[in-house]
Amino acid sequence: MFGIAFTVIIIGLIVSAQALFPEDPVPCKFGDGKCIAKFVNSLFSRRSGEADPSLNLRRLDPLKVHRIVIEQPSDSGVGLTLNFTDNLMYGIKDLRVVGVKGFGKNLSEPHSLKMVGKTLSLVGPYKINGKVLILPISGSGNSNITMSNTKSVVRLSGQPLEKDGETYLDVTDLKLNMKAESISFQFANLFNGDKALGDNMNAFLNENSQAIYQETRAALERAFRGLFFGLIKGVFAHRPYAKLFQEE
Ligand SMILES: *[C@@H]1O[C@H](CO)[C@@H](O)[C@H](O)[C@H]1NC(C)=O
Ligand SMILES: *[C@@H]1O[C@H](CO)[C@@H](O)[C@H](O)[C@H]1NC(C)=O
Ligand SMILES: *[C@@H]1O[C@H](CO)[C@@H](O)[C@H](O)[C@H]1NC(C)=O
Repeated sequence: MFGIAFTVIIIGLIVSAQALFPEDPVPCKFGDGKCIAKFVNSLFSRRSGEADPSLNLRRLDPLKVHRIVIEQPSDSGVGLTLNFTDNLMYGIKDLRVVGVKGFGKNLSEPHSLKMVGKTLSLVGPYKINGKVLILPISGSGNSNITMSNTKSVVRLSGQPLEKDGETYLDVTDLKLNMKAESISFQFANLFNGDKALGDNMNAFLNENSQAIYQETRAALERAFRGLFFGLIKGVFAHRPYAKLFQEE
């Protein structure tokens, strides 16, 4: 339904880990996947509530999501647009890295992180107009889209970038594969606040959540991809690659 053609515009991410001094390396050696997983998990669980200037990270939980635009043309030309503006995403603190590859001395090699999450909720103002599974839908107000038991793999590729005599990892591409076991929708104030219509529509969306998720999955994945890309690129652009890790 929503899927396929969409635009995603997301501005900014900066998180924060306070216990590190700006020039401290992360406490891991190059390519030490277990250590890197542990370090990233501690960032998520203990420090996601604050920004971490030393890693060029903004507050991660909740994470400000400036704008997501989902545009879905349909055969009949009606389609659907769904916009989220100035939303907050909750749940990054419960993400856990369960596998790491790459991050060795050769920064041109592929890098990946495998993560599991409990819930990820996107909460805040929405605007929707169009059709969902053949039913007309319209409205604007506050929404809460919650994905449960997510599994994701983030793959990065990059190239060395020389700047002021130092080598940085310039992250050039990020691929995200994300699956949620279930998803729930809550749109307040649908149909100009018509409560009966709105309640019915929310019930309908949640009864058909798997079908709708299949249709929206690509768009949601795209939106999350944009978030992670900004975040990760920022971390590596901020500090020379060698200064992110400890020497042997
Ligand atoms: C680094 O990795 C890239 C991509 O896998 C490879 O093409 C290149 O030969 C490697 N460089 C070194 C010095 O091993
Ligand atoms: C969503 O945003 C796009 C791009 O700004 C706009 O063209 C569209 O009309 C918006 N849709 C709704 C329902 O507000
Ligand atoms: C969003 O919805 C989920 C699932 O219903 C709920 O657990 C969570 O508390 C809600 N979040 C907010 C900020 O309302």
